[in-house]
Amino acid sequence: MAETLHTQRVFSGIKPSGGLTLGNYLGAIQRFVDMQNTDIETIYCVVDLHAITVWQDPSELRHATRELVAAYVASGLDTSKSIIFNQSQVPAHAELGWIFNCVARMGWMNRMTQFKEKAGKNAEAVSLGLYAYPSLMAADILAYKATHVPVGEDQKQHVELTRDIAAKFNHDFKVPDFFPITEPIIEGASTRVMGLRDGTKKMSKSGASDMDRINMTDSAELIVKKFKKAKSDAEPLPESVEGLKDRPEARNLVNIYASLSGRTSESVIEEYAGAQWGRFKPALADLAVSVLEPISTEMSRLMQDPAEIDKILAEGSAKANAIAQPVLEDVYDIVGFIRGQQWPR
Ligand code: TYM
Repeated sequence: MAETLHTQRVFSGIKPSGGLTLGNYLGAIQRFVDMQNTDIETIYCVVDLHAITVWQDPSELRHATRELVAAYVASGLDTSKSIIFNQSQVPAHAELGWIFNCVARMGWMNRMTQFKEKAGKNAEAVSLGLYAYPSLMAADILAYKATHVPVGEDQKQHVELTRDIAAKFNHDFKVPDFFPITEPIIEGASTRVMGLRDGTKKMSKSGASDMDRINMTDSAELIVKKFKKAKSDAEPLPESVEGLKDRPEARNLVNIYASLSGRTSESVIEEYAGAQWGRFKPALADLAVSVLEPISTEMSRLMQDPAEIDKILAEGSAKANAIAQPVLEDVYDIVGFIRGQQWPR
């Protein structure tokens, strides 16, 4: 349905909270670049409003925001093809987010597994923003009437909530096709990159051990060391992908290899069937270095010129605002807010 009624448009975002991992790169950024190179309009956000749902030191937030822009650009996002901006600079996100707080139901929010994981036993002490976060995420997507959202597996439930919010808004206000029913795009071998020390847990920037993750800014030596020490198992690589079924660490390493080389896991297994870890791990480490080192070198170069990065964000924010503001104005009319004058934007 989304395809026929609404112009195709891609939106996605990443939080500038701490470093970026190989999970962010393979699950999101690499796929943002692939989608940029199609005919569909692409909008990629640095979601700073989301970052502050947990405490962020202001100067670290500024650094992480710029570093994420540097990662986007160094990985191949091109400002002449994609809109790159930071969320706080387009007021429609927060304004539509409030309206969606009034559309989403408590029961829906209570089912959000990521909130439960993040809040843990501490649910009474976390911010209200952390709880409301998925409805702001729906606003991010729907302020652009985005039809497609490339994300990793962990964001699937949030995109499903976005669909529920869009459907309820369209229904309650009797505007059947106003918001599209957005499709999550969760594809490829790296929709869920797992930790290097524990193949049953997602690789994350906040995980306890730095050896569990590859950071996009890690040096070549560190990347080699981390893959060398990565947990594997006692068996050689199997003859087919089915043989990886009950081997989470082995499966993860093969999937990482596949995504880094733009191949399928099947073709990687075909090449390495029967190989020992002593052969596969160094090949994987070399491959990772060959992909990540040029990106991290370019990121450091871009970070030398923060004014240039801020200019990218300012120009992107103006373009994003030009799309989101008219959508918000329509929403205000639909909801029944009186708009007496043109807003000074
Ligand atoms: P965030 O910042 O936690 O992660 C950014 C993106 O990286 C993906 N990702 C992974 N993919 C595979 N394996 C992993 N180990 C891994 N770790 C992270 C995430 O799935 C995500 O795609 N709520 C979102 C940000 C957001 C957003 C949006 C996304 C805010 N508004 C609107 C899409 C559309 C988040 O916290 O992602």
